[in-house]
Amino acid sequence: MLLKTRGLSKVFGGLRAVADLDIQVADGQIVGLIGPNGAGKSTVFNLITGVLRPTAGQIIFDGADITNKKAHVTAKLGIGRTFQSAYLFPDFTVLENLVAASFLHPKCNFWEATLRTPGYRRKEAAKLEQAKEILEFVGLEPMQDELAKNLAHGYQKVLGVARALAVKPKLLLLDEPVAGMTAEEIAFSLDVFKKIREQGVAILLIEHNLEFMTLCDRVFVLNFGHKIAEGTPQEVRKDADVCEAFFGTEDD
Ligand SMILES: Nc1ncnc2c1ncn2[C@@H]1O[C@H](COP(=O)(O)OP(=O)(O)OP(=O)(O)O)[C@@H](O)[C@H]1O
Ligand SMILES: [Mg+2]
Repeated sequence: MLLKTRGLSKVFGGLRAVADLDIQVADGQIVGLIGPNGAGKSTVFNLITGVLRPTAGQIIFDGADITNKKAHVTAKLGIGRTFQSAYLFPDFTVLENLVAASFLHPKCNFWEATLRTPGYRRKEAAKLEQAKEILEFVGLEPMQDELAKNLAHGYQKVLGVARALAVKPKLLLLDEPVAGMTAEEIAFSLDVFKKIREQGVAILLIEHNLEFMTLCDRVFVLNFGHKIAEGTPQEVRKDADVCEAFFGTEDD
């Protein structure tokens, strides 16, 4: 297993946002985390990436215990993520957004950077090259000189994914990656996710939409912080508790 949580819990004041959660992501899989509003999905991402500290439980990534590790450490270890809102530099171009993201991987020391040594300039050129490669990979290369804020909503979200790829992740966490997208943008994004998987990168993704889950090898369903079901998308869709959590209240 690439990622495992054991008994993961997060309490905010009196609210158990995540309760005793065990989930697993195998190498190269696409795994879904679904559940109604407020189920605790984004909190799980914040715990895994070290943005929040768990109240209890353990997180194992790639054989190492990463519980309580800070966000810059989890990024370095190979966990990339996107946020529910786009989280870009709106006045930077698409390419500049990518180059800025690759500073997460600083390979130059202070003196090299200050003196702009040939070594530093070489590393800068390599960074630019890497940024262009990622843009080409996700299909945003034709838009590389556009300001991020001028991209259509869907492509801004894809740029968020591209930025997450800049840390060279083994695991990519995507929080509602296709929310608010047009059908065309969703199709574009699905192609990107499949290409990412083909590179051997595992994906854990949050989605509201049960239909979207067909992309996933496995799905975990959360409700009020608890795992209420897990299995293949087909198994989960038939589950009575899942139907109740998603559709039960509509009849009330
Ligand atoms: N920093 C915080 N402080 C206090 N409560 C929080 C905090 N973050 C989240 N919560 C609460 O924890 C619960 C789970 O929130 P979370 O954002 O993880 O849900 P979610 O499943 O991602 O929901 P959505 O589908 O709306 O994005 C909610 O009741 C939310 O109000
Ligand atoms: Mg959320």
